[in-house]
Amino acid sequence: MGVLEIRGLTKSYGAVKVLNGLELDVTECTLRCLLGPNGAGKTTAMDMITGRQRADEGSIVFDGNEIRGLREDEIARRGVGRKFQIPSVVKDLSVLENFLLAAADDVNPIRNMFRFGFKKVKTRIDDTAERVGLRHRLHLQAGYLSHGETQWLEIGMVLMQNPKLLLMDEPAAGMTEHEAEKTVEIFNDLKKTHTLLVVEHDMAFVRSIADSVTVMHMGRVLAEGTMAQIETDPEVRRVYLGTEELEDAAHA
Ligand SMILES: Nc1ncnc2c1ncn2[C@@H]1O[C@H](COP(=O)(O)OP(=O)(O)OP(=O)(O)O)[C@@H](O)[C@H]1O
Ligand SMILES: [Mg+2]
Repeated sequence: MGVLEIRGLTKSYGAVKVLNGLELDVTECTLRCLLGPNGAGKTTAMDMITGRQRADEGSIVFDGNEIRGLREDEIARRGVGRKFQIPSVVKDLSVLENFLLAAADDVNPIRNMFRFGFKKVKTRIDDTAERVGLRHRLHLQAGYLSHGETQWLEIGMVLMQNPKLLLMDEPAAGMTEHEAEKTVEIFNDLKKTHTLLVVEHDMAFVRSIADSVTVMHMGRVLAEGTMAQIETDPEVRRVYLGTEELEDAAHA
């Protein structure tokens, strides 16, 4: 089933057409990677899906309903979660307290415990922490987490809001090789229960997580398919010519 179906999406900033008829489908419980050179419109596409920015034309159907034009908080409430590059983790609080913050829109963790029953919330937090590899870190102050762990906490915090579709923009950026490998495991587990759309430049990472790949160029789809199909596509290679990504792809 298609969780996300985007048709004919356009967006201009002034005279610049940043999205120019974008079409994108993401199937339930699969992970689609969104690739493309700098400025292709990948982040803008995510801004449109989450309602952070308004599209000019086109349609965005999520879970069977048109969401284009809805407010950002309404789209989030319907089950579209987004992990930003700069985490919203509160460094002075423990990992557990950060999870509690994310568990409800109320920003009073103590009140949340009373409202939902601490045991119930704690079980959800334990499960989520387990999934993002932070079960052993729950009582650590978040400021002491490594870069990778901070990213996982952020993913966990988005998961606490019960999203059906998860959007992530360059989640492995700045991670060590080990952290990136762990992130691959986390994503491959998340696919069992969630639908994911991930923007990423690291080709090895993409190869390890993507069920399907969409390559964007100048605000529209240049190519689509499995990673193996994309890597041998002459159009894709032409667009990436001389860039690191092509080198990565060529030496894989
Ligand atoms: N708020 C804005 N106002 C004006 N122009 C914008 C705005 N947001 C994005 N753009 C322009 O839209 C184009 C696409 O930007 P976008 O950030 O979506 O690209 P991207 O594919 O995410 O690139 P990158 O790989 O570098 O993150 C760029 O030319 C950018 O300068
Ligand atoms: Mg971007």
